[in-house]
Amino acid sequence: GAIVERLAAVDIFAPLSVEETGMLAKAAVRHVFAPGEIVIRAGDPGASMFVVHNGRVRVQVSENGRSRTVATLNEGDFFGEMALFTGEPRTANVVALEETEVLEIGHAAMKKVFDTNPDLVESLSFIMAERRAGLVPKKDTSTTATDESAGILSAIKRFFGLN
Ligand code: CMP
Repeated sequence: GAIVERLAAVDIFAPLSVEETGMLAKAAVRHVFAPGEIVIRAGDPGASMFVVHNGRVRVQVSENGRSRTVATLNEGDFFGEMALFTGEPRTANVVALEETEVLEIGHAAMKKVFDTNPDLVESLSFIMAERRAGLVPKKDTSTTATDESAGILSAIKRFFGLN
């Protein structure tokens, strides 16, 4: 019940039907991380995304040997979508800031909802383009997040075998 409610409150999952959200909730695996524990390590392969159920995580990248925080994510926020949707390695470290419970959703469950929810794929590609821009130290003004999201959208569709 609490898991369905949590997933239903995630903005990108808004277009899903009650049945689809229920399916994702059933497929979700809960994990608890202690403060300071690494949830995702940059460079690792990954085929799942996570929703913060309780707690908080920090997204960090390493720049010239120093760690830079790109975002702090709270309850109801998601992460790990980039590697899941592109097949590329994890782009950043994600570290629990406090005791944090996450819901892990795998490739197979996401593929099911992708097939019937093109809106979800589109909103995800836009968010991913914005997040990608936040990962690089200096903004390359030649490509905007909007331009980039089209490229990401087609990459996701290719990776998931959607039209
Ligand atoms: P992924 O690359 O699979 O693993 C690291 C995650 O950090 C990434 O997916 C995103 O979910 C998240 N992330 C990367 N950059 C940002 C950002 N600028 N803002 C918020 N989250 C981000």
